[in-house]
Amino acid sequence: TLAPVPGAIAAVGARAVFVEVTPDLTIDLVDLAQKIHASSAKTLLLSHMRGHMCDMDQLMALCGAHGVRVIEDCAHTMGAHWGGAPSGRYGLMGCYSTQTYKHINSGEGGLLISDDDQAMARAILLSGSYMLYERHLAAPEPEVFEGLKLDTPNMSSRMDNLRASILRPQLPLLAERVARWRSLYDTMAVSLKNTRGLRLTQRGASEAFVGSSFQFLMPEWGALHAQTLVARAAKRGVDLKWFGADSPIGFTSRYDHWRFAAGKALPETDQILKSLFDMRLPLTFTPADCVLIAKILHAEIQSINQAGPDADGTLLSVD
Ligand SMILES: Cc1ncc(COP(=O)(O)O)c(C=O)c1O
Repeated sequence: TLAPVPGAIAAVGARAVFVEVTPDLTIDLVDLAQKIHASSAKTLLLSHMRGHMCDMDQLMALCGAHGVRVIEDCAHTMGAHWGGAPSGRYGLMGCYSTQTYKHINSGEGGLLISDDDQAMARAILLSGSYMLYERHLAAPEPEVFEGLKLDTPNMSSRMDNLRASILRPQLPLLAERVARWRSLYDTMAVSLKNTRGLRLTQRGASEAFVGSSFQFLMPEWGALHAQTLVARAAKRGVDLKWFGADSPIGFTSRYDHWRFAAGKALPETDQILKSLFDMRLPLTFTPADCVLIAKILHAEIQSINQAGPDADGTLLSVD
């Protein structure tokens, strides 16, 4: 997940228990079952990170059986579906970001959806409605606020009308944007599918994804190969991120960097993050751009592969 997710947990005074990730970059449901048993957690904050959705039917059955509420972080899945239902409609609540890089964009901002009156009333109070919550056009009935309004802290994070007015005309454009992202993602995936040592993620048959970014794994590589690829790609204008770095860089960080949400080690996840590369696919790219980017990555990966296996000691020159 991303730093603001454990950040949100820390902000409400809760404690995060991290769950392992699978090589397909979805939550590990076996580990989730174990963590539910081992902890007293009653809420799962599920990040559909980078647009990869787990088997939502299995996840909801597991959480339902143990009384665990699911909050979906859909920062990367606005417009994606599982089994025909939009992401954000499985859990108690769906949370969307409308920051610049997202599917509809107001520079900064975000929104929540829920059918649950209590949860929504609390969210409105938390966002900073003061005692003016009745003016919120989508708020539940005023009675719902009665038992909550004096107990819920005001965290002052409202969406203003200016932002909302920027977002509303973008909603009808979402389906067309999703289709364009899909074509960029599919172009990258097809162009890289025969690159030696490169693993693409597998997706569930029920998933209709939105690919606003692209990930691949190099499971056989060590840190030097990975750093060399990032540096060589950058030299050729391809902005690649790698999740194996010791310290956070830009938006890219790892669970063991987040001291504010310190947790137990996740050995499976560590293996995956060490080999995981990530890049944005903005809609300013065309499929032809993606073919070119994939060609650059393929050539650089091949050249690094030819240097032999990285025994975490082979220093490759970055020239
Ligand atoms: C997975 C994930 N969750 C939550 C957020 C938080 O969104 P925002 O920056 O709009 O608060 C982001 C931001 O990019 C994200 O990537």
